[in-house]
Amino acid sequence: PRVIYITRHGESTDNISGRIGGDASLSENGLEYAAALTKFINKHQAEFQKNCLESNINNFSSQMFNSEVNIQNCSDVIDMKLLGERFEIWTSMLKRTVQSAKYFDNSNIKVKKFSVLNELYSGLCEGMTYKEIPKYYPNESLERSKDKLFTRYPGTNGESYVDVVHRLQHIIVELERLHNSVLIITHRAISRTLISYFMDISIEKMPHLNIPLEYVFACVPKAHGNDLFVYKYDR
Ligand code: F6P
Repeated sequence: PRVIYITRHGESTDNISGRIGGDASLSENGLEYAAALTKFINKHQAEFQKNCLESNINNFSSQMFNSEVNIQNCSDVIDMKLLGERFEIWTSMLKRTVQSAKYFDNSNIKVKKFSVLNELYSGLCEGMTYKEIPKYYPNESLERSKDKLFTRYPGTNGESYVDVVHRLQHIIVELERLHNSVLIITHRAISRTLISYFMDISIEKMPHLNIPLEYVFACVPKAHGNDLFVYKYDR
């Protein structure tokens, strides 16, 4: 069985200044997370594959996975060649996700970029802080605080969560068909949407899920649905 790993990019310079949207690069912390991610995936996949071969599929997850495992503790031994055959990485087209995959560059793992994995587009509010938005767009801001699911950001192509659900439909079909395991490095709103789909979380709750930076969410299939395992990078 394949694992779908979902994570946000490492910390960006816009995350530090509290600006939404944009196309900022990773900070030092962000680059550190990117490096930790390669170790984590390598170790996790090695144990996962080994365990699938050795044990009954019904009980492998309880044996092998401990939620909230510390990513930092993963071994330094990286055998990306073995992983490459059965593993893919998908990023958005934005720098912060592409840079978060950069330490996989010297492996034979395919990295695919998809614009549909870009962050929810905040229209005229791109580059603003959450404090600035209500000053410039009080009505939209109030509307969004009441109905985050349906409210679009102002300006051409400004999106709502429902818009994001629609644009992710094709990629979800692709994911359902995929036999390989995949690491999806994306953004907060996109992670919320994908995790809600795989974990059957209601659309009303979805825009409010807590998806911090430096967490990996692993969706592992079971008979009906998926198990979710959560891993945190401890600095
Ligand atoms: O702050 C990071 C970010 O990814 C923004 O770019 C984006 O607009 C936001 O999170 C999505 O979260 P929310 O819909 O809760 O503002």
